[in-house]
Amino acid sequence: MKTLAVVSHKGGTGKSTLSIHLSVQAQSEGRDTLLVDLDNNSSTVAEWASIRTDKQPLVVTAQVSDITELQQQATDEGFELLILDCPPYLNDDTDLITKLADFSVLPTSPRFADICTLPRGIDKIHQPYSVILNSCTPDPVNKTSFKTEQVFQILNDSNIPVSPVHITRLEAFTESLNYGKGVTEFQSNSKASKQIKTLLDWLYTVA
Ligand SMILES: Nc1ncnc2c1ncn2[C@@H]1O[C@H](COP(=O)(O)OP(=O)(O)O)[C@@H](O)[C@H]1O
Ligand SMILES: [Mg+2]
Repeated sequence: MKTLAVVSHKGGTGKSTLSIHLSVQAQSEGRDTLLVDLDNNSSTVAEWASIRTDKQPLVVTAQVSDITELQQQATDEGFELLILDCPPYLNDDTDLITKLADFSVLPTSPRFADICTLPRGIDKIHQPYSVILNSCTPDPVNKTSFKTEQVFQILNDSNIPVSPVHITRLEAFTESLNYGKGVTEFQSNSKASKQIKTLLDWLYTVA
C-alpha cells in the first residue's frame, strides 16, 4: 500500500481539494483507496463524504495520534492507497505523518504571500516530497502562465522540490465537490480532470 500525505503550512492551499480528487481518480482506476480527514477543524473531506452517495473511496476521520494504527489496519484490509488530508500547519505532527508516508505533497498557490511563507516549517516534511503549484492562473492557450513558470524556477533554484504538474484555478474543482463528486466523475473530459489524472500518474512514478 502506498501512503500519500497532503500537507501545508496554512489553510486554503488546496489540500482537501486535491486529496478528494486524487482519491476519486485512484479509486476509479481500480486502486482501493482510503481517504483520511485529519483536519478536525475544517473537516472538508468528511463534509464532502456526507453528501456523497458512492461509498468508495472510503472516507474516515482520525486523529494524528491514531495514524500508525490506521495505516496498519488499511494495509491488513487490502487497501492499495492511503491519502492523508492533513491539518494546516507544519509541526512535529507533520514530522510523524510524513515519516510514515511514501510521498508527501504540499500544495500552494504560486502567489507572493503563499510563496513567502512557504519555507517556514518545510524542514518538518520528510523526503521525498514535492510542492504542487495549485490554483495557478488559467492560460488561454493552455500553456503554463508566465507567473507559474517564474515561481517554478524560483523553487527549483532554491532546491525546493516542485512537481512538474501544475493545477490550474478552475471552477470544476470546486463545483464537483458541491455534488459529492470528484472532478473526474463530474466532468470526465475537462481540463481539470486531465490535470488530476496527470498528477496521479506523476505521483505513481515518484512514490
Ligand atoms: N485548483 C483550484 N481551482 C479552484 N478552486 C480551488 C482550487 N484548489 C482549491 N480551491 C478552492 O480553494 C478553497 C480552499 O481549498 P481547500 O482544499 O479547502 O484548502 P485546504 O484544505 O488546504 O484548507 C476551496 O474553496 C476550494 O474549493
Ligand atoms: Mg482542508
